[in-house]
Amino acid sequence: MKLIKPKKIIPRTPIEKFTGVKTKTELFIKRDDLNGLLVSGNKARKLEYLIADALNKNCDSLITCGPTQSNHCRTTVVFARYFGLTPYLFLRGKPKKFSNGNLLINRLLDAKITYITPSRYYKRRIETMAEFAQKLIKKGKKPYIIPEGGSNEIGALGYLDCMREMEEFIKNKKIDAIYCAVGSGGTYAGLLLGKTLLNLHLDINGIIICDTVEYFTEKILKICEKAIYRFNLKIKINPKDLKLIAGFVGPGYAIPYPAELKTIRKIAKSGIILEPVYTGKTFYGMLQDIKKKNYKKVIFIHTGGIFSIFSFNKILL
Ligand SMILES: Cc1ncc(COP(=O)(O)O)c(C=O)c1O
Repeated sequence: MKLIKPKKIIPRTPIEKFTGVKTKTELFIKRDDLNGLLVSGNKARKLEYLIADALNKNCDSLITCGPTQSNHCRTTVVFARYFGLTPYLFLRGKPKKFSNGNLLINRLLDAKITYITPSRYYKRRIETMAEFAQKLIKKGKKPYIIPEGGSNEIGALGYLDCMREMEEFIKNKKIDAIYCAVGSGGTYAGLLLGKTLLNLHLDINGIIICDTVEYFTEKILKICEKAIYRFNLKIKINPKDLKLIAGFVGPGYAIPYPAELKTIRKIAKSGIILEPVYTGKTFYGMLQDIKKKNYKKVIFIHTGGIFSIFSFNKILL
């Protein structure tokens, strides 16, 4: 099968030198937070491919799931509205009287939201979306299901692109490592596919922000395997290339901790906004990790997520 042609609506993003913290390692930031506004961050790269696949299949609606402040859900809703599709969301949690951040945008764009309990979400989100899709099909609709975080072999192509964008810079500057957040694994899988395909010699370090290294190892290898098979990529992933780092989740998913918040406030003084769910934990984790390694130059992938900060206003200030 040929590679899917993406619906290109986001621009290439710059890689900037970052001097806002003192480290022995030179830091660069890949500014994927600057690739747009409503459609922005890592989810936009994945959705360029997912929406292309949905449109190729003549679908008229998108179904996806996530937590109430999911950046992925917001980006999916905006993509759906841009391209004239109806967005359906299954959100983990309870409806709230006051909607802010990503949820406010989802509601403003009139996403069709169903709230489900955490236990149903964790045990049956895939089945729940499939059953709902069947109901829509019976009504004559053509839904397209996007998995949590847009993380499958199609979404991952967005980060294969990102690796291509960075290839020249990585080679010219002799970059030793990349750091990115791992929340559903698609970003990491795409970067790993890109590194292998382009034969780049650098570490890709993924800071996990939920679950376990074992869980993500299996999930990421599966996404890569499926991409290699489906798109006939002439590569083999070496499991030893997976460098997933635990220890920075803190008390749990989307629960910030003091050292992380201190980092977010410090970095904000340089005009870069990190958020407490993904990029705050990852940046803090990177600063700790580079102390133990002999890297001269690293790139932090800023995966976006600006709107979620509005749901953390009390704790951030
Ligand atoms: C802002 C942000 N950064 C990083 C991630 C993690 O990326 P991935 O889900 O591809 O592992 C997510 C979503 O999960 C996100 O919303």
